Amino acid sequence: MTAKKPPMGWNSWNTFGEHINEKLIMEMADQLVNDGYKDAGYEYVIIDDCWSLKERVDGKLVPDPKLFPSGMKALSDYIHSKGLKFGMYSCAGTKTCAGYPSSYGHEFEDARQFAEWGVDYLKYDFCNFPVSGDAKNAYLTMAMALRHTGRDILFAACNWGKYDPSGWMRSRGAHTYRSTGDIFDVPRSYQDIFKQQVENIEGNAPGCYNDLDMLIVGMHGKGNVGIGGCSDEQYLQHFAMWAFLTSPLIIGADIRSIDGSNKATLLNKGLIAINQDGECCPAFLIENVGDKHYTLGKILSGNRVAIGFFNIGEPTEGPCHMSICFDDLGIHSESGLFLKITDAITGEELGTFQDAYTAVLRGCQSQVVIAELVKPEK
Ligand code: DGJ
Repeated sequence: MTAKKPPMGWNSWNTFGEHINEKLIMEMADQLVNDGYKDAGYEYVIIDDCWSLKERVDGKLVPDPKLFPSGMKALSDYIHSKGLKFGMYSCAGTKTCAGYPSSYGHEFEDARQFAEWGVDYLKYDFCNFPVSGDAKNAYLTMAMALRHTGRDILFAACNWGKYDPSGWMRSRGAHTYRSTGDIFDVPRSYQDIFKQQVENIEGNAPGCYNDLDMLIVGMHGKGNVGIGGCSDEQYLQHFAMWAFLTSPLIIGADIRSIDGSNKATLLNKGLIAINQDGECCPAFLIENVGDKHYTLGKILSGNRVAIGFFNIGEPTEGPCHMSICFDDLGIHSESGLFLKITDAITGEELGTFQDAYTAVLRGCQSQVVIAELVKPEK
């Protein structure tokens, strides 16, 4: 099955935009392997917009030879030789968002070309789409074209929820679907995406996921979508949110120069395990107090449930007590069950609790815990 779990990888857009080339992509592949990202689950190396010549040649998309002198097959072979997978980009319109040739009316031939290059993942954008066109049909056409190649290609639809925020894309063959506009490297951006999508994630299940956009973790204002950057605590909150909501985890930072603290965030075992949990059960919102204090639950495989507490108030905001009553997880006191709680981010065992648990968090802090149902010994 394609996309049995949310895909994880690296994409060129957030940091590099149009400044891409084969050397850069190969270095990112090396870095994914050498720095433990591959072992943590990041497997797709994805080239975004701006990779081709400005016009088709003999009807075909052609990689810009100045940027990709060895061609896409050679790059794909290199990525595969590292045990990684190769992702590419096209668009449902007549031109990509950056004005390069795109796949409208060329879906079957382009899909064949991608398959010949050994592509494993196609991000499919939504710019310059004819007003008279039918978006649902355009995505369905590319989904069918990819299937017709006989190659297992993950179809990452990027329609920004324009026509149906509830995610019609699953039925049109998408394995992930972007539901919002682009993320930018400021706290407000990831927090707004979270607020918009926190109740639009219950359809996330094997086969298709709401893609909250690429991660900005560790960008610190550098690059293509960089503005002011975020604090390390905010990057951790952003990553914890994406992981908890079962979004794809696609790194956008330059992992050759990322600092240790943000590298640790991207490699956080507890959060990745929640995102990639074998059960792949979607998260659900338990409480939203004032669009600032959010508590969510997510059933995990086995006898466990994850609880996420996210305080998106200002960083200067003093400690706030965020409590969850276990009834809100379906565990009533008559059951006689307690919850043995571990901090998913730090691994610290926090104790065994009856009826309720309280996280104490300042603005921009989060706590994600894993709770195991236990029967205390008498
Ligand atoms: C819009 C998408 O939302 C971005 O992620 C990126 O792919 C750009 N298009 C590329 O032009």
